[in-house]
Amino acid sequence: MINKLFRKKSVDQILKDSQDGTGLAKVLGVKDLVSLGIAAIVGAGIFSTIGLASFEGGPAISLLFIFVAFACVFTALAYAQFASTVPVSGSAYTYAYVAFGELFAWIIGWALVLEYAVSNTVVAISWSQYFVSMLEGFGILLPKWITMAPGYALDAHAKFLAEGMAALNVADKAGLEAYMTAPRIADMPIIFDFPAGLVTLLVTWLVYIGIKESQRASNIMVMIKVGIIILVVLGGIFFIKPENWTPFAPNGLRGVMGSVAAVFFAFIGFDSISTTAEECKNPQRDLPRAMIICLIICTVLYVAITLVLTGMVNYTELNVKDPLAFVFKYVGFDHMAGIVSVTSVIAITSALLVYQLAQPRIWMTMSRDGLLSKRFARIHPKYKTPSYATIVTGIVVAIPSLFFKMDFFVDLTSVGTFFAFILVCAGVLYMDHVGLSARSKFKVPYINGKYIIGVGFVLAWILVYSYAQSTISEWRALSFAEIIEHKSLVLVFWGSWVLLAVLGFRYNFSLLPVIGILINLYLMSELGASNWIIFILWLLVGLIIYFAYGYRHSKLNKITG
Ligand code: ALA
Repeated sequence: MINKLFRKKSVDQILKDSQDGTGLAKVLGVKDLVSLGIAAIVGAGIFSTIGLASFEGGPAISLLFIFVAFACVFTALAYAQFASTVPVSGSAYTYAYVAFGELFAWIIGWALVLEYAVSNTVVAISWSQYFVSMLEGFGILLPKWITMAPGYALDAHAKFLAEGMAALNVADKAGLEAYMTAPRIADMPIIFDFPAGLVTLLVTWLVYIGIKESQRASNIMVMIKVGIIILVVLGGIFFIKPENWTPFAPNGLRGVMGSVAAVFFAFIGFDSISTTAEECKNPQRDLPRAMIICLIICTVLYVAITLVLTGMVNYTELNVKDPLAFVFKYVGFDHMAGIVSVTSVIAITSALLVYQLAQPRIWMTMSRDGLLSKRFARIHPKYKTPSYATIVTGIVVAIPSLFFKMDFFVDLTSVGTFFAFILVCAGVLYMDHVGLSARSKFKVPYINGKYIIGVGFVLAWILVYSYAQSTISEWRALSFAEIIEHKSLVLVFWGSWVLLAVLGFRYNFSLLPVIGILINLYLMSELGASNWIIFILWLLVGLIIYFAYGYRHSKLNKITG
């Protein structure tokens, strides 16, 4: 049984499988990939969650963007090496199949549902918020009960009952109005987020009718999106008051690190272009280039935007849903605020498009391997897209986006994505170890980590002792049980570093993937235990499905018996 769980696919076998009758159209070049990457990365994160992040962390959030970008660059290098070795649609799922075997591959594939489908629920809800406020800007008012998840309305009503009207902010008042005006069935108010569901279905239709058509729409949206961000930066520079940058980190390191999930969410997506490997003209050359190029572009844009936002208004004002438009309203430049709010709707649409494109391709690959029903690999004869998987993705994203609040999904998406990133970085170490890297047309630059990983560990402890005495005192005050309860994630991080130092010494590990693992793990440990628990439950559900279906139907059954 253990042998079966860890049965692996060989690279040759994967390449052969992908050539047997997939029929996907090979149309994408490096420019298209950069465009798809930026379409995926720049979305709800930078247009909305940056507001709350800046409010909590102050201007120093710009540094967090750089730090998180480093984690992404190291991970992107690992993705690029895999994509250049195994250029097929499954992304991290396929890579794990080569490196760690079937069980891990399934786990990763299941975690990627969080990165693509679940994150797209957030993006759809965010789109709806911008869309509704854009319509309001044009004087079109939709009934509130068709514009939000019921949770927002119920919370607002509960707050109204407990604290009275005076305690409600603008969003609460909208929620209360939805609660009061909603039609009722047996006294239950009917409230749902119609624009979120509708946009998901429209985007799914676009993805269904063909990659080329999706690509054209995406290219146009990306140009508008990048153009408006540059315009916001250039327009905003004239309104910057440098005194707003002091204090730079008003709530200290804790305030900054509290926003890891939101900042990381804004970067998620650079890896999604690896799922289009089978539709690239030259995946080995173009995928690595495209991933790095879009990460560099996005990091520059994000840091610039953060500095402009926190320079234009004091960070304490930024607790808003539409910060990019808000800052221009704040300084009295209403025209610009209007342009930004319309463009945000376009920007978020293009992010939606990429994830609706990526998720079916991962399922398609899993289905080819026998881990999911054959229907998921069905290619539309005319449109050449994975038709069934695309429709299922549409339903899986549209229904939760009608009824659920977004906050819960943001953290869950981040945990799942960090997990996938860590395994992809670790996979490169495995490829080096077994000699598979020799077949990679792109390789993560090799720096021998034999001593550096361990020396880094010692240096890190010296730094902690020199500069984080308050943290050490906090730990000393905790009992053993409390340490396990509250700090186990930190222990996992330090323990992993020790393990990597030992293994790195023994096997001459490549340094960059190790740094990728450690930064991702550190950021993941900042997300809080409750998110990990939900993530573990998610994995358990995945395992039940695997043992009920994939384990028995896996194509490798035929090979390994
Ligand atoms: N990075 C994507 C966004 O910001 C998920 O919407």
